[in-house]
Amino acid sequence: MRRKVIAGNWKMNMLPNEAIEYIQAFGPLVKDTENEVILCVPYTDLFYCLLNAQGTNIKIGAQNMHFAENGAYTGEVSGKMLKAIGVEYVIIGHSERREYFAETNETVNKKIKSALENGLKPIVCVGEKLAEREAGKAKDIITKQTELALEGLTDEQVKNIIIAYEPIWAIGTGKTATAEDANNSIKDIRTKIAELYGNDVAENVIIQYGGSVKSSNAKELFTTSDIDGGLVGGASLKPDEFSKIVNYDK
Ligand code: PGA
Repeated sequence: MRRKVIAGNWKMNMLPNEAIEYIQAFGPLVKDTENEVILCVPYTDLFYCLLNAQGTNIKIGAQNMHFAENGAYTGEVSGKMLKAIGVEYVIIGHSERREYFAETNETVNKKIKSALENGLKPIVCVGEKLAEREAGKAKDIITKQTELALEGLTDEQVKNIIIAYEPIWAIGTGKTATAEDANNSIKDIRTKIAELYGNDVAENVIIQYGGSVKSSNAKELFTTSDIDGGLVGGASLKPDEFSKIVNYDK
């Protein structure tokens, strides 16, 4: 059976002192969970979070990386650099990066490859816009994004990836996809992976839902057949609220 993976995405929030206080409060609240708990934090918080998460079951991730290992890319951080300080996960292709920072399916694919080569686990975001959903194109968009993101990867590599299905209209809007719709879209993605990489890979790959997940809807979403946990933005900023999401099954 697939495990549940619940990741917080702090986005551009939290100063180091706030991050430290958060982890000190959050650690004890999630210590008994069997679910995988990840916090994806700003670069400037990574080191503080890694230190303070030692001895807890909280894993630390970044929110982006460059695909090159090093070089003349002013302002960028590579997968190799993240790995060197002990980071385990990295979000790739979040819709905010696709929309505001010119992330494309091609750069997403390059970043995933580089993350895997450097021993990081990518959390790869896919999702449709509202107009695309209303035009009946959601399935085409998300399966194509998945196919292009994973292009050229081996079966073993795909098994190590986490996909986050995040319908863009549900991110930060308070509008959650219904559990049934989210589960169906995730099934579409899983079916596509089965076509490309076989049933064994498809049955093992973790596919999360993201978009206005909160403690009041987590259980309904995470107890469906295909949703393997969540990528949580706004509701991950408060230790108490996020711990309730992680402990949805308690
Ligand atoms: P949200 O963000 O939970 O605030 O909707 C989710 C995300 O962008 O990953």
